[in-house]
Amino acid sequence: MQEKELSDNPMDLIKNIETVLNDTLEIISKCFNEEELKTVAPLVAGKHSPLIALRSRLKDIEPNARKEVGKVLTDALEKVNETFHAKGQELALLSELNYEKVDLTQYVASLNSIYGNGLGALHPVTVAQGELEDIFVAMGFSVMDGPEAETDWYNFEALNIPKDHPARGMWDTFYLNTAQPETILMRAHTSPVQVRVMKTYEPPIYTVMPGRCFRRDTPDARHLAIFHQIEGLVIDKDINFGHLAGTIEKFTSSYFGPNIHARLRPAYFPFTEPSAEFEITCTICSGDGCRTCSNTGWIELGGCGMVDPEVFKAVGIDSEVWNGFAFGFGIDRLVQMKYSLSDMRDLTENDLRIMLQF
Ligand code: DAH
Repeated sequence: MQEKELSDNPMDLIKNIETVLNDTLEIISKCFNEEELKTVAPLVAGKHSPLIALRSRLKDIEPNARKEVGKVLTDALEKVNETFHAKGQELALLSELNYEKVDLTQYVASLNSIYGNGLGALHPVTVAQGELEDIFVAMGFSVMDGPEAETDWYNFEALNIPKDHPARGMWDTFYLNTAQPETILMRAHTSPVQVRVMKTYEPPIYTVMPGRCFRRDTPDARHLAIFHQIEGLVIDKDINFGHLAGTIEKFTSSYFGPNIHARLRPAYFPFTEPSAEFEITCTICSGDGCRTCSNTGWIELGGCGMVDPEVFKAVGIDSEVWNGFAFGFGIDRLVQMKYSLSDMRDLTENDLRIMLQF
């Protein structure tokens, strides 16, 4: 029998396979979407695949080398197959992302067509906070802040509110589930920042401390569970109640205008003695009396008083030498007054029909 002529050199065929493999991988890598990938599918399998075409040449090589070359070819086919499928998954994800992509410029354009001006603006509470800071800075105060997650000591103990003190009920507190139970909390007022300031700086101190506060309150027309306060603290020598009353009157008329005044009424806070609540002229009826102010002509805004010696003791300030006053009030409430909003929750609902009025 005549011996069959073996025309192919195994090394040549291996080189050939590698070249075809690299070309095929490059073609797959250049596909930018699933449609393009579909058009190159015949390269991967089927009779038009150049790698599969090379299989027919295996019979032309010497039987001893055939097995080795066959393995190179099978590996190459596997590699192409894997790369093709991986690329398919990548492109599918990409087309999903493209599908879900939101074009914000289109959103703004549609707002423009509805409202005339779709550009963003600062939230009214942010604006009010900035205005308050400006007023107090003009009076010689600095602006400071502190952490929103606090320890029980700063939020309560150092402010003369020990555990089991009935006044703790004034602040329905969110506790964080860390460390020992009821030791870390979301601050219920900005007063803990006073404590931090007094522990950090030597008097004299003239500072305001705005920030977010958190209480387990059910939101209603006059309360939010997450709200903003601004705290004020003055520590110096020979400070008296008149300085406190004058400061509050000054900020009230600077913020609301000359027709709105402040008055103080006796109250109780563990960290001030004496303590007062301060009220301002009702902005809705200008003091004549209306439903919002229960016909009194006044609206309660915040608390204040002369810093209690117990607080000075907790922070290590000598109350024989220094004294001072503190106050705190809700910024959201102030905004509600300024714009005569009947429901404070409107400030958190991001309803553009309301927000665009500011
Ligand atoms: N922290 C008080 C509250 O949230 C408000 C307050 C009252 C702050 C008296 C003060 C103060 O600094 O002296 O109800």
